Amino acid sequence: MMCGIVGYTGPRGMETILLVGLERLSYRGYDSSGIATIYNGELSTWKKPGKIRELEATLKNFTIKGHVGIGHTRWATHGEPNELNAHPHLGNEGKVAAVHNGIIENYTHIKQKLSEKGHIFRSVSDSEVIPHLIETYLNGSLESAVEKTVKELEGSFAIAVISESDPDKIVVYRKGSPLIIGVGKGENFISSDVNALMPHTKEVIYLDDDEMAIISKENVIIKKSGNIVQKKVNHISWDAAQAEKSGYDHYMLKEIHEQATVSRQIIAKSISKQNKVGFKHVESSMTYLEKVNRFIIQACGTSWHSGLVGKYWLEQYARIPTEVDISSEFRYRHMISRENEIIIALSQSGETADTLACIREAKSKFFNVLSFVNSKGSTMDRESDGVIYTHSGPEIGVASTKNYIAQLISLYLFTIFIGRLKGTLSEEKADKMIQSVKKIPEYIDSILGNTDAIKTIADKYYLSREFVFIGRGVNYPTALEGALKLKEISYIHATGYPAGELKHGPIALIDAKLPVVCIAPQSDTYNKMIANIEEVKARKGKTIIIATEGDTQIQSLADDIIYIPSFCHDLTPILSVIPLQLFAYYIAIKLDCDVDQPRNLAKSVTVE
Ligand code: G6P
Repeated sequence: MMCGIVGYTGPRGMETILLVGLERLSYRGYDSSGIATIYNGELSTWKKPGKIRELEATLKNFTIKGHVGIGHTRWATHGEPNELNAHPHLGNEGKVAAVHNGIIENYTHIKQKLSEKGHIFRSVSDSEVIPHLIETYLNGSLESAVEKTVKELEGSFAIAVISESDPDKIVVYRKGSPLIIGVGKGENFISSDVNALMPHTKEVIYLDDDEMAIISKENVIIKKSGNIVQKKVNHISWDAAQAEKSGYDHYMLKEIHEQATVSRQIIAKSISKQNKVGFKHVESSMTYLEKVNRFIIQACGTSWHSGLVGKYWLEQYARIPTEVDISSEFRYRHMISRENEIIIALSQSGETADTLACIREAKSKFFNVLSFVNSKGSTMDRESDGVIYTHSGPEIGVASTKNYIAQLISLYLFTIFIGRLKGTLSEEKADKMIQSVKKIPEYIDSILGNTDAIKTIADKYYLSREFVFIGRGVNYPTALEGALKLKEISYIHATGYPAGELKHGPIALIDAKLPVVCIAPQSDTYNKMIANIEEVKARKGKTIIIATEGDTQIQSLADDIIYIPSFCHDLTPILSVIPLQLFAYYIAIKLDCDVDQPRNLAKSVTVE
């Protein structure tokens, strides 16, 4: 299960703290939620299917008391999203409550064993075995019962547990799924990510795998294999307000509109006054980069698309052979590691289970790993040899937008960096590339100034049930990303293709009803792209074309046209995707879809 976990111990209103936390984590999962608290030594739970607001409405009818509590927002893996399967789950006697993020792979075996001993299970969730098992070991402290329990669990998990037997504590354990402790004064918090902690504290401790924390309002004790470990308290620089909607209707729209600012930030952080690109967390830790002779990029979803663009750049300018693979495929291939090859992981969250598994697998095969992550302190950040932060701030909308742009700009800058390092890029060319990067923010602003025109086109096509997106070269991944955005948030089937591949299958789909989104800025394959659009027109397909400002030739082929500023061809993916993000957004709005929390998806996919 990919879910959000929160917990609080302290003097403040339990209900508000847990609900605010769950709301801020709800992009991780949103099909049911629940909380458990202990008051006067007695455990109470409230759970509800649906969004957090359903739980909130229920809680209004109760007075929630207590100074120790845990909460959970769920994205179902085992069992449908109903009240029984919602967390927190209770032990057999109702004395222990637990919330869980992850999957317990051997739960059927444990369940059977406990059922034979008379345990009654109320749900079909794998997680319910956790509080049941803990209860069977509760003849000492809660902490030792949790310790014994986790030894029996197989799979990945982050758990938080409270018990009537130890009413002042929350015990948490991490093995494979993220868990963060927020350190306060006379109060402490837990959360699956820093986002839920931001309104309360900026001092956090990242738990590592196989670590347990015993949390009371005055103390946080962390143990590994029974021994106390001293952990660093990290300061978060993100501002809580960055994770608010700031007047926009949706996080996604706000994040699309933040893209110029994000690109300015990256430029400011990565390009020196002398026009040199620098990445301090790479230069210090990956001194062998100069010798690299192959990159293998692995990522999921939108991050995979930016990897596909990165390949074009790394091969063209740094002249380094680059492979790109989807993490869930790569991890099960038999990786061959050769000297001087580097794995690049791309991830907004830094927690995606498949991407993380590839990193671990790669490290076990002696690869060096460089990660591009947005979330500082995330597991990938901590486990990689070198890190490039993508500086896009908290991204809450489930469909990634601003971090895509951030990954692209970072990959382009990295290409310049590595090209210079290896001597494959002349100083003159590198300078020119940097000058181009510096123009990105103003060009993004100009596209965003054209939002109404994009909305008008979206309003025209929102009833189409199918779309095809085509592009070539660096804009082939843009076609994939445009199609993905539309699928994710509007539930319209869309497929992205390299335009030259149209004739090998998808052309059969084209008729007078099919809208084909053609990404056709000026490039060295522009004429080929025109030929492909002609093929679509010849079959009466409807064409929505993304073209370069001033391109009048293409107008006669377009049913609708969206212009982007004239820019060096390589960098157009950074611009051409923005109209597609807005197009998907406005179609989804017209169809009344929940754009920030699309059905069945989650922002941070911490299960395989
Ligand atoms: C999920 C999200 C996508 C994201 C993908 C990879 O599927 O819904 O928006 O692109 O995970 O996430 P990552 O955090 O690794 O970039």
